[in-house]
Amino acid sequence: MIPYSKHYIDKEDIDSVVNILKNKGITQGEVVQKLEKKISNYVNSKYAVAVTSCSAGLHIAANVLGIENKNVVTSPITFASTASSILHNGGKLKFVDIEKENINIDLSKIEKLKFAVNTIIPIHFSGAAVELKHFKKNNPKIKIIEDSAHALGSKYKTGDMVGSCKFSDISIFSLHPAKTITSGEGGIITTNNKKYYERLKLLSNNGVQKNIRKFKFKKNKSNMWYYEVQEQGFHYRITDFQCALAISQLNKIDLFLNKRRKIVKRYDDAFKSFYNLSPAIDYLERKNSSNHLYVVRIKYNKIKKSRSLVMNYLKSKGIITQVHYIPIFNHPLFRKFKNKGEKFKNTKDYYDEALSIPLYYTLKESEQERVIKELKYIIG
Ligand SMILES: Cc1ncc(COP(=O)(O)O)c(C=O)c1O
Repeated sequence: MIPYSKHYIDKEDIDSVVNILKNKGITQGEVVQKLEKKISNYVNSKYAVAVTSCSAGLHIAANVLGIENKNVVTSPITFASTASSILHNGGKLKFVDIEKENINIDLSKIEKLKFAVNTIIPIHFSGAAVELKHFKKNNPKIKIIEDSAHALGSKYKTGDMVGSCKFSDISIFSLHPAKTITSGEGGIITTNNKKYYERLKLLSNNGVQKNIRKFKFKKNKSNMWYYEVQEQGFHYRITDFQCALAISQLNKIDLFLNKRRKIVKRYDDAFKSFYNLSPAIDYLERKNSSNHLYVVRIKYNKIKKSRSLVMNYLKSKGIITQVHYIPIFNHPLFRKFKNKGEKFKNTKDYYDEALSIPLYYTLKESEQERVIKELKYIIG
């Protein structure tokens, strides 16, 4: 079977995890901070907070920005937790259509909205960065949380790394096995704002404050057993052995990114001769991408075959594909949040045609040839 996505774990990764498991402290130790430091160095942010998942990170990031009863705009082409993070924090969930060329939120449409936008959550879909520089400059009052789940290793056209928060308030990566690097499950939040950083730390650890200089009840400060609960927080702590895995994986990130780039180039070249199938995202938009996904658009109506038929055929040949994503507002939970009267034409057209095909570090050239050959056969 050729899956659409697969993690890669080598001996170094295993040894680094085992090493921590043999230690006394397997959680709340120094490896978490080590990973946070390494990530902030890699993306060039001042701070990083490692948590249990990107979903957890989105949840507390939206909490920190204080979105209750405020309009928060995101893209319909994303995973559930982007939208849930808004609802968990009492925000008013709003959607804006995607762009045709890169499947990212259409920032120009946000500027034309009739209601006051408090916060936006753009998603760097498949790793192709949402170019936030001008939006940030033109809309300094709108807060920005980047859903960077797909985008560890991606850059903006300015050359800055996604996660540097140069054009945003907070950014969150996923360390799920399908992503650029993994810790099993995990997420990393980055920010340049000290206050946000300190609150993110508190919220991810049940609101527990252990820094005596930050105690509210000063008379207790000399008691060595003392700590304070200062926030209604959550248990979003990641373990040291997960962080050890992420550090070991981060050491290989260039290898992963280069290989993904090569695979993508081979697909791009092969699909030039295809009819009724094209890459979903323009090459130029993907130049600085982490290449988390390779999505093709297939004119199912022209080939007179449904997506299910194509997926089933490929599966019968050992090739697994997926759809990223069912538009969020098509789900029962989110249906009522779809802005009335809006067509979301680009979202609809994209969803009608999208198919994610295999892309991962260990995908062999011969396997990729098989994917291309079988796609050619079924599309005709
Ligand atoms: C766009 C997007 N946002 C958020 C998430 C949530 O990431 P996690 O699984 O680490 O919670 C995902 C996961 O696939 C995602 O694709």
